[in-house]
Amino acid sequence: MSRIPQHFIDDLMSRVDIIEVVGTRVPLKKAGREYKACCPFHDEKTPSFTVSPTKQFYHCFGCGAHGTALGFMMDHDHLGFVEAVEELARQVGVEVPKEAGGQDRRPDDDLYGLMEKTAAFYRDELKTSEEAIAYLKSRGLDGETAGRFGIGYAPRQWDSLIKHVGSTESFLRRLADCGLIIEREQGGWYDRFRDRIMFPIRDARGRVIAFGGRVLGTGEPKYLNSPETRLFHKGRELYGLFEARQALRDIPRLLVVEGYMDVVGLSQAGIRWSVATLGTATTADHLHRLFRLTETVVFCFDGDRAGRQAAWRALENALPGLSEGRQIRFLFLPEGEDPDSLVRKEGADRFQDRVDGALPLSDYLLEHLQSQVDMSALDGRARLAELARPLLARIPDGIYKDLLVGRLAKLVGVDPDRLTGIVAGDRPPDRGFRPAARGAPRPGNARSSLIRQAIALVLQHPSSASAATIPANLAEVTLKGLPLLCELLEICRETPDIGTAGLIERWRDKPEYSHLLALVANELLISEETAGVVLGDTLRQIVVREGPERRVEALLTKARSGGLDAAEKEELRDLLSSRVSPTGTGSQDG
Ligand code: CTP
Ligand code: MN
Repeated sequence: MSRIPQHFIDDLMSRVDIIEVVGTRVPLKKAGREYKACCPFHDEKTPSFTVSPTKQFYHCFGCGAHGTALGFMMDHDHLGFVEAVEELARQVGVEVPKEAGGQDRRPDDDLYGLMEKTAAFYRDELKTSEEAIAYLKSRGLDGETAGRFGIGYAPRQWDSLIKHVGSTESFLRRLADCGLIIEREQGGWYDRFRDRIMFPIRDARGRVIAFGGRVLGTGEPKYLNSPETRLFHKGRELYGLFEARQALRDIPRLLVVEGYMDVVGLSQAGIRWSVATLGTATTADHLHRLFRLTETVVFCFDGDRAGRQAAWRALENALPGLSEGRQIRFLFLPEGEDPDSLVRKEGADRFQDRVDGALPLSDYLLEHLQSQVDMSALDGRARLAELARPLLARIPDGIYKDLLVGRLAKLVGVDPDRLTGIVAGDRPPDRGFRPAARGAPRPGNARSSLIRQAIALVLQHPSSASAATIPANLAEVTLKGLPLLCELLEICRETPDIGTAGLIERWRDKPEYSHLLALVANELLISEETAGVVLGDTLRQIVVREGPERRVEALLTKARSGGLDAAEKEELRDLLSSRVSPTGTGSQDG
């Protein structure tokens, strides 16, 4: 995604000192080996925010915020990834190289220039098209708002843009790269957008990266959007985000709506804090971006069935990103209305009242689940817990989750601790890289906890990977989490200087990222010197103990479903009789 080479990030992470980065923004006090302060991410009187110079990692025990120096810059200074890298590089006095992969040096800037030129062309065309102006007027749009969003008009001819820009080979290729023209089967090119109202889609910096084009009046398709291009990735962008940032210094909340005209109409009514996804469901990436700018995201949906379905999907996508300090609410509109029509009908104040009354995520979640069970029936409550389990399991550990579990426990009528246990037990091992539970380890968890411990060790003491003896057949073990462990070991061995922060940064865009952060945040109490030995021991246990365990399980499953042949029966008998209680040295739990 980023065009900054990985080795540069590695290098940057090893040069940057998190104490300096955080220290210039938050008054840090030395406390033992670490530094402490009142957390900049939530309100508190006593410091629970700690920064570790050895791990190059910060962690708040109060709100659970944690990450590397790079993450801190992004979250604290509200910077994008590239901006944060650039800022850190500036601080340590190095220049950010662009990926210099030979032919890969693409003149993207030229494409941005071309998109801007195209947007200007459409804007100019709008001024002279009576029909287009009449259409926008009929929709109640004023010139000022149209101007702020850079709305334009693509003329009816098949080649007006090509004529305007130029039809040399190089212009045609770039127009095609921008998704603005289409090649004919019999040869030649034509404009993609014709006789449409044009909405430029801008990125966070305000550069035009795509267009949405609406027919005047009726016709199919109603909206035509730019295809995915080098500049435009539909699942990442939000229409109106740049304009909202332009309009407001602080953005206390952002409303997520469905359509271009909703954003524009709301803005004209004075509600300048709405954005639209571009015909896709809200992704985790979208949410991440939104929460960098605001504390409250309000999803707005139609009251019809499709709207409710979309809302539930948005809720499911939002769960992994939940933490305190982040509020998500749901606003359901009356059937047949969208924000544009409603704000026009009843005015901005009434609409804002609706936003104020939007359902908090937790209310929506519990109400939705309760509507699916008969709470008066004997097993209704058990069923409710059953439905909630997989959802709760997706929420990161923290106060927010505890509160929700508490409310659910009350509804179900069980002790919150018991419910927490049930929920924790439901985590699939590949996602459940939680620090091993205190107290007696549950037998089913032994396997994944060994892998978890090994991963935590490598993350916290990357040098242990080179110090440890790695069993030859480790990679053959088929356990969840093992590929990740092997990848970590390999990186550490190939890049001996890499530190915890550098390792973590490699996973920034991957699904395991938050689990890895959590593993680093949890103090292991194993010293650097012994880490290699402990790691080697843990890996050995994984190989000798986990291998057969896995095989036993596979054979048992097969026995239940289809039956075993004679050889398999014998193998199973052997495995079961040789099953011994673990005699490993101490490091089974940690
Ligand atoms: N959309 C799209 N392609 C379509 C229809 C819709 O990409 N053929 C996307 C557009 O982003 C559009 C949004 O879905 O803005 C919502 O569609 P819809 O509710 O049908 O349109 P409105 O936003 O209400 O548009 P208008 O008010 O102009 O009719
Ligand atoms: Mn509409």
